[in-house]
Order: sequence, then C-alpha cells, then structure tokens
Amino acid sequence: MALDIVSLFAERESERYGLHARHLNEQMVRVLKAIGYDVGFRSGRGQYLYDRDGVKYLDLLSGWGVFAIGRNHPAVREVLKRVLDADLPNLVQMDVSALAGVLAERLLKRVPYCEKVFFANSGTEAVEAAIKFARAATGRPGLVYCGHGFHGLSYGSVSLVGDDIFRQGLGPFLPDCSEVPFNDLAALERALASKKIAAFMVEPIQGKGVNLPADDYLKEALALCRKHGTLMVADEIQTGMGRTGRFLAVEHWGVEPDLVLIAKSLSGGHVPVGAVLARKWIFDKLFNRMDRAVVHGSTFSKNDLAMAAGLATLDVMESERLIENAAAKGARLTAAFADMARRYELVKDVHGKGLMIGLEFGVPRSLALKASWSLLESMNKGLFCQLITIPLFKEHKILCQVAGHASLTVKLLPPLIITDDDCDWIERAFDAVIADAHKVPGAVWSLGKTLAEHAMKARAS
Ligand SMILES: Cc1ncc(COP(=O)(O)O)c(C=O)c1O
Repeated sequence: MALDIVSLFAERESERYGLHARHLNEQMVRVLKAIGYDVGFRSGRGQYLYDRDGVKYLDLLSGWGVFAIGRNHPAVREVLKRVLDADLPNLVQMDVSALAGVLAERLLKRVPYCEKVFFANSGTEAVEAAIKFARAATGRPGLVYCGHGFHGLSYGSVSLVGDDIFRQGLGPFLPDCSEVPFNDLAALERALASKKIAAFMVEPIQGKGVNLPADDYLKEALALCRKHGTLMVADEIQTGMGRTGRFLAVEHWGVEPDLVLIAKSLSGGHVPVGAVLARKWIFDKLFNRMDRAVVHGSTFSKNDLAMAAGLATLDVMESERLIENAAAKGARLTAAFADMARRYELVKDVHGKGLMIGLEFGVPRSLALKASWSLLESMNKGLFCQLITIPLFKEHKILCQVAGHASLTVKLLPPLIITDDDCDWIERAFDAVIADAHKVPGAVWSLGKTLAEHAMKARAS
C-alpha cells in the first residue's frame, strides 16, 4: 500500500512554518512572517497559486524562473507518469541514456553552433562543469565574471558571483577569478590581456537588477575573447528557454558563445536539470581519452525523469508558442511600465526583454516624498521595493520579488503563459500601489517605518 502523500500534505501543511523553524531554515520563516507572506499555499496551476483559504494569486516569480510553462502542466505531468509506468532502464551507468540522446539532439537544433551537451542536475552544476570545460580546453586557470553577476552558490560558481553578500565569511574561494564591471569592454580587455583567462562568464541580461547589455557589448566581448584565446560562456540559466522572447537571450544580439548554460525552465518545474551546450572541440578536450570517459559527471544527471521533463517542456513551448507569447506580453507590459515611468516620479525606468522585466525606482523630486525616501534609505538601503512588493502581495494577490540585495528594482519573471487578462491584473495592481506610494503620509510609508524598525531590531538581536 503506497503512502497517501496527498492526505499527508493536507493533514500537515498547516505545520509547515513550525516544522521549518524547528528543522530547517528558521531565518526564512522569520522573513516570511515579517512580511506577511505566510499564507500557506496549497495548490498551483499554470500561472496561479491558491492559498489555504482558496484565494488566487498571480505568480510573477515562477519559482525563480523554473515555471516557464506554468505549474503542473498536464502534458509534462502525463509524460512523467508514462516514464514511471514504463519500467525504463534508468541510470544503468554502464550504458548510455536514450532519452538524454534525444533531448541533446533537440536542444542542439535550437543552438546549431554547438554540437555537444553535458547534462547536470542544477544551474550551479552546469556552471561548475563549464569551468572545467574551459580550463581543460584552454589549459589556463583564470576566470573573469561581471559585477552584479550571479551564477549559483556552490564554491566554483559563487567564486564568480559579483555580490559580496553571498560570500561573506565563506572564503577562501577559487583562485584566479577576477571581476570586471558589466558593460565595460575596456576593463574586459585589460583582464583578458594577461592571456591567462580560460573563460569569461556572463549573463546576457543580469538577473540581479535585470541589467541589459549595451547594444554592442556581447558581440564586442566575444571578439575580445577570440582575440585573447578566452572562451565566452553565456549563462542562460535564467534568460534561456524563451524567457526573453527568443530561445536564448544572446540571439537578440546575434552572438554565438562557446558554451551556453541552461537549467531552470528545462525542468518543466518538476525534475531538476541543467545543461551545458558546447562546441565539439571544447567538449573533446575534457573527455579526451577512454580512461577519462567519467572525468566529470554526476550520478543522477541524465536520469529519465529529468530528460523526459525536458523533452515535454520543449514540446509545450513549441505547441503553445510560448516564446512568441513571452515577446508579445513582454512588449505590452514594458510599454505600460514606461507609461508609469512618465506619470510617477518614483518610477525611474523599465528595463528587460520579453518576460524578464525590471521596474526601477529612484529618488523622487517633490520635497515631502524625497524626505520620506531619504529617511527610509538611511535606515535600510533598498527597503523601498518592499513597500511595492508587499502591498502587491497582500492587497492585489501578486507574488513578485525585489531584483537583488539592496536593489531599487522590482522584478517580474512570470510564467511565459500569461494572458492579456493577467497583464490587465498586473497593470492595474502596479498602478494602484505606485499611486499609493506617492501619498505622504500614507499607508505605504507607514509600512516602510514598521519594516525599517523590524530590520533594525533584527540586526540588533
Ligand atoms: C543566471 C543564473 N545562473 C546560475 C544560477 C544557479 O542555478 P541553481 O539555483 O539551479 O543552482 C541561477 C539561479 O538563480 C541563475 O539565475
């Protein structure tokens, strides 16, 4: 008799915060309670989440980008059930996986300048693999990454993260890693000129901040890499798989990197997976002899469920024309936010591509607003965005995030399936919350005071 997991969830879901506080990450529970996000989600379908009172939320976070095709897509679920029912010879290890071969073939059709795929279990593992490929292929130790870049939190990846919050107290990190500012070609050229750099690791659009490259940046960066014998690695873990309105974000700028990393959406939101797409000569330098056939890899990579989830996800993306939908809905929302930037002094800019959108706030002009803004910023840098995301959640049932630590940008990363009705919901909600934020004194700024006091108390304790 199989465990009745659905009843187990129903019986114990109300204990989740207590269980986590006791046995897992208590700080996360404290954060959720402080900002009032402890509503206890009970189900999810497509772009919507439902809490234990049945209230419907629009999810603009999509599990940090994994639910491009929405939660619990019936087609992916059905494929996973079929795999489980088929008694497939999963993870034989002394054989090769048929489904991995088919998924690799399918991915490479989308990225024809690469001939090989290496599968991993997550984004950070794809980054770790890329580091090894680059060092093996070039015989060089060095790695260059961008300020504000994010590539994951295992030791190799975090050595390439351009935000100290993820590193404080955790060193030492990989040696021979150096940071250059994003969008600074002169700094990149100086770094590459040592001829000791194996790879330049870059997100085409940075996830932290939703920072766009200058029009010529990626193309010129690739030319510099070629000139100095460095490989260019495009980390498309967040931007890839249609997110920006193209299969890969680099396609917007006509760039063909040496290695391309994907993960997140490829999972269909069900089975973790990551992939490195590589040019053959690079791949063959790491896997260069029979006795090195297992020089890099991991036990669970290429497992049948992950490979099937990837294949089913690509099918859904194509049959539902989700890349086209991301481009169209992204254009609509970006235009609506640009209009808000013209109407509201707190809104500075909107940036992004497709359905990866950053709405940036900044110092207002009028005196009363400016005084409240400065007070809040002096108490806690970057807190302002919480004054937008919390009312969006509580009053308008929209789940979204601040684009990074101490960031003044609110980020939208919705499932690529969102409809015009969802866009109406988003535009109405943001407009109302932003309008409220322009009222001083008002509920939004009172919330700011409460949050700042909370944050100061937490720091003192
Ligand atoms: C650009 C980028 N690279 C790497 C990662 C790490 O992926 P994972 O969390 O699956 O390890 C992330 C995760 O947010 C990411 O956004």
